[in-house]
Amino acid sequence: MTSRVNKAVIPAAGLGTRFLPATKAMPKEMLPVVDKPAIQYVVEEAVSAGMTDILMITGRNKRSLEDHFDRVPFIEQTLEAKGDHEKLAAVRRPSELGDIHYLRQGDPKGLGHAVLRAKLHVGNEPFAVLLGDDLIDERDVLLKTMIEVQEKTGGSVIALIEVDPDQISAYGCADISPIDGENYVQVSELVEKPAVDEAPSNLAVIGRYVLHPRVFDVLETTGPGRGGEIQLTDALQTLASADGEGSGVYGVVFRGRRYDTGDKLSYIKAVVTLASERDDLGPDLQAWLKSFTHSLDG
Ligand code: UTP
Repeated sequence: MTSRVNKAVIPAAGLGTRFLPATKAMPKEMLPVVDKPAIQYVVEEAVSAGMTDILMITGRNKRSLEDHFDRVPFIEQTLEAKGDHEKLAAVRRPSELGDIHYLRQGDPKGLGHAVLRAKLHVGNEPFAVLLGDDLIDERDVLLKTMIEVQEKTGGSVIALIEVDPDQISAYGCADISPIDGENYVQVSELVEKPAVDEAPSNLAVIGRYVLHPRVFDVLETTGPGRGGEIQLTDALQTLASADGEGSGVYGVVFRGRRYDTGDKLSYIKAVVTLASERDDLGPDLQAWLKSFTHSLDG
């Protein structure tokens, strides 16, 4: 088994029911966050962490995803003729990010099932999984740290954030113990969306993973869990308590900027936050936001 992590799996086959009807005919990963689809931020993050091979797990509405990362000669020629180099670069950028492979999930039976579809492509190497609903600010480092921890421990690594205790039931939750002198923690238990009074901590699992390929063997025997779906969290729970090669789950607690785009309210907050930080939009948007909040007070 080679230890260098250079393959990323991006599951994008979920039904996106929280965004219906917007997601009736397009994947939620294509929803624009300011002026780029959410999925582009995620692919850019994978590439800048050194991933050279990206596998996207797609579903019925996959076409727009593939089209977005493809060339569009007609638009490019039009922009070139107009001399609009800025837009031309923006249009070309997604197609220049690297090799992206696509595989259909078939039945969207859950995140664990989507990851298992990557087994043949990934082979016997550790690999990264990035979910399209979680955006990590490019100014903050997460995936590279997780890859280092995977290489050091030989297990699987998850990303955790601290949330208000009453928010934990929206997430997978981890019971952890610190490891002396290390920037990561040992994960002893994982529970998918626990009731607030049953949660072992306020540490929530977010959508970045660096996994040992042993997870595929575990997923093959993992039955449906919460919501009738094959849960990646359940497979990781098995690995956390297993012995031998590829066992053990470790957590990196992320304290940087993360934007959740998986539900409507968080999505709107993400768009406003990112737009208000942009040089081209920020000043006008911030001025408008101030007068808007003032009018709400009134
Ligand atoms: P979510 O739990 O957010 O599910 O999946 P969802 O179905 O997309 O959204 P809602 O809850 O119905 O609104 C987390 C990630 O896993 C992918 C999704 O595309 C998303 O990026 N996923 C989920 C799959 O690829 N396949 C699945 O069967 C389930």
